[in-house]
Amino acid sequence: MPDDLNIAGVRDNFKNSLASAKSFNELDDVRVKYIGKKGELTLLLRSLGKLPPEQRKAAGQELNLLRDQIEQELNTAAIKIKASENEQLELNQQIDVTLPARNDFNGAFHPVMQTMHELVNIMQGLGYSVALGSEIEQDFYNFECLNIPKWHPARDMQDTFYFDNGELLRTHTSPVQVHAMLEYGAPLRVICPGKVYRRDNDTTHSPMFNQMEGLLIDRDVSFSVLKGTVSEMVNAFFGRELKYRFRASYFPFTEPSMELDIECVECSGHNKNCRVCHGTGWLEVAGMGMVHPEVIKAGKIDPEIYNGFAFGIGLDRMAMLKYGINDLRLLFDGDISFLQSGF
Ligand code: PHE
Repeated sequence: MPDDLNIAGVRDNFKNSLASAKSFNELDDVRVKYIGKKGELTLLLRSLGKLPPEQRKAAGQELNLLRDQIEQELNTAAIKIKASENEQLELNQQIDVTLPARNDFNGAFHPVMQTMHELVNIMQGLGYSVALGSEIEQDFYNFECLNIPKWHPARDMQDTFYFDNGELLRTHTSPVQVHAMLEYGAPLRVICPGKVYRRDNDTTHSPMFNQMEGLLIDRDVSFSVLKGTVSEMVNAFFGRELKYRFRASYFPFTEPSMELDIECVECSGHNKNCRVCHGTGWLEVAGMGMVHPEVIKAGKIDPEIYNGFAFGIGLDRMAMLKYGINDLRLLFDGDISFLQSGF
């Protein structure tokens, strides 16, 4: 074999180049370098003609052999690279089922709904059933049956949303008292959580807000049962025993009537500059009283045999107090963070 062809040198160079090729691109470079148009081996093959005729055959055979070998080794290397790429891909895509889930957004109940559910749960624990009533009411149930006289300012167009047909958006959950009495009779224990509407819109009033009505009708119901029930309910809601103040008040559908103040949940009366109670130490949370005999009659129950109590508690206020929300309007602004868990 003529030395000037240096076939062994090309073979060694090829082996080294192949060993360091780690990708398809690098492999292609190696192919071009040796068997491409101007590749080292290709050039040797081209120079065969310059050899003395007696050497050509042997050299040609050897070069062709080497070309076959190079092609084969390039193919084998390509298969290996493909396999290791697949392996890498699999490793990258492997799913670790023990990793915690990616919880970008956990939906949760709105604070007012949360409040509603909590209070409903508490009252169900005391044996009350839920009645929902209707947000569109008739004057009869919203006012008339509740002993609200024609001259009462609540009936004014300024305060109530009326429909053209004389129906209205209920201004409180109290109409459900009469509906429940008519539907279930006595004795009776119901709560009615839901939306109510008034023509009010300022920093502390929204045209739509939420109340929960409670009604108990039985024989010989005393005012102390009412006081015990609402204080139990509010204690359970805040998770501690609060101080209570029952103030004499007036509602046409209860007699006597009271308003319930609870000790300020923010400062317990210890901060003269408290932003929640404005230094009074008290927060007004509910209206209540013994159901007026006229209302019991409207519910087709005999007020000579049965009496009872009713209360109406503001759910938005309770939510604000429990969750430290200082502006009523925040509840209705549609801020999505109000619907995220961990509130
Ligand atoms: N309906 C009254 C209001 O909306 C609250 C209330 C309910 C008062 C039941 C007494 C009894 O203000």
